[in-house]
Amino acid sequence: MRPPFSVAENYDQYFASQLYDQRYPGPNPSSLALIAREIPGRGGRILDFGCGNGRYTVPLLERTDATVIACDISRAAIDELSLRCARHVEMGRLRPVLGDLSVLVHTIGRDEGFDLVILMFGVLGHIFSRALRQETLATLRGMLRPGGRIIVTVPNAARRFFKRQAMARRLAREGHLEPGDIFYERIADNTVVKMYYHLYVLEEFVRELEQQGFRLIRVGAESVLPESSVVRSTPLYWIDRLLAAIMPLRCAYGFLAVAEVASEPERLTRPPHAPDSGLSG
Ligand SMILES: C[S@@+](CC[C@H](N)C(=O)[O-])C[C@H]1O[C@@H](n2cnc3c(N)ncnc32)[C@H](O)[C@@H]1O
Repeated sequence: MRPPFSVAENYDQYFASQLYDQRYPGPNPSSLALIAREIPGRGGRILDFGCGNGRYTVPLLERTDATVIACDISRAAIDELSLRCARHVEMGRLRPVLGDLSVLVHTIGRDEGFDLVILMFGVLGHIFSRALRQETLATLRGMLRPGGRIIVTVPNAARRFFKRQAMARRLAREGHLEPGDIFYERIADNTVVKMYYHLYVLEEFVRELEQQGFRLIRVGAESVLPESSVVRSTPLYWIDRLLAAIMPLRCAYGFLAVAEVASEPERLTRPPHAPDSGLSG
C-alpha cells in the first residue's frame, strides 16, 4: 500500500513548523566527525541525499573545502538551506537539488562522480518501497568515483515505534504493507505530520547494501540514546558514546554503515539473495 499521503508535503510541514529544528538543532557530533574523516584532502565532492534543511550540509561546508550537492524532496527544506547558504551557492560550493532520485539523475552530469555520498538519519527508511530503496542504493553506487564511499544510517526496528509495528504487522500479513514498514505521526503546530518509515533489522540492512554492490567497511551505532537527546545535550552525547562502545550493536537506536563499491569478483560471488552476513552484536 503506497503511503496515502505525500511524504514531501508532510516533510514541508515538519520543517516549516520548526518542529524538526527543535528536535534536531544540530548534527550528531560523532556522525559529523566520521563524515569529515571520509572527505578527501582537497576539493572533494559530496552528495547529501535527503539533506533536509542542511543539518549535515551546513557544517560540512563550514568545516571542509568540499563541494556539496544537497538533494531533498521537501521544498521547504531546500528553500531554507538555499537561503541559509546563499553565499556558498553563489561561490559554487553548494548545489541544492529539489526532487527525488530521478530528478537527481537528470540534474548531475554523467562524469560528475562523488567522493562521498551520505544518507543521514533514516533517509533510506523514508523511501517507499523496498524496490525503490534498492534502486536508490544501486543508482547512488553508480555515482561514486573510484574509491568513493557511502555513509548510510537507518532506524533499528528493535528500538522504534513498537505500537506502530504491532499495527503494521497485520497489514503486512494481509499483503498491504511490506514487513518492517510503518505509518506514524508527529504533531507540529497543531498540524499532524504523517510519515512513512521502513524500520530495519541489522542483517537486512547489511544484506541490502551488499546486494546493491557495496562492500561494508564498518557498521556501528548512529546512537544508542534517541538522536533528539544526543544532539541537544552534551552530557547525554558523551553518555551515548560510552553506551555505543559497550552495548551490543542490536541495541542501537539507529545503525550507521560505511561502505565502498565492491569489486567485480566480490559482486559476482554474492548471489542476489545471499544469506545474512555473520554480524554479531
Ligand atoms: C529524517 S530527515 C533527515 C534529514 C537530514 N539528513 C538530517 O539528518 O537532518 C529525512 C529527509 O529525507 C527526505 N526524503 C524522504 N524521502 C526522500 C526521497 N525519496 N528522496 C530524497 N529525499 C527524501 C525528507 O524530505 C527529509 O528531509
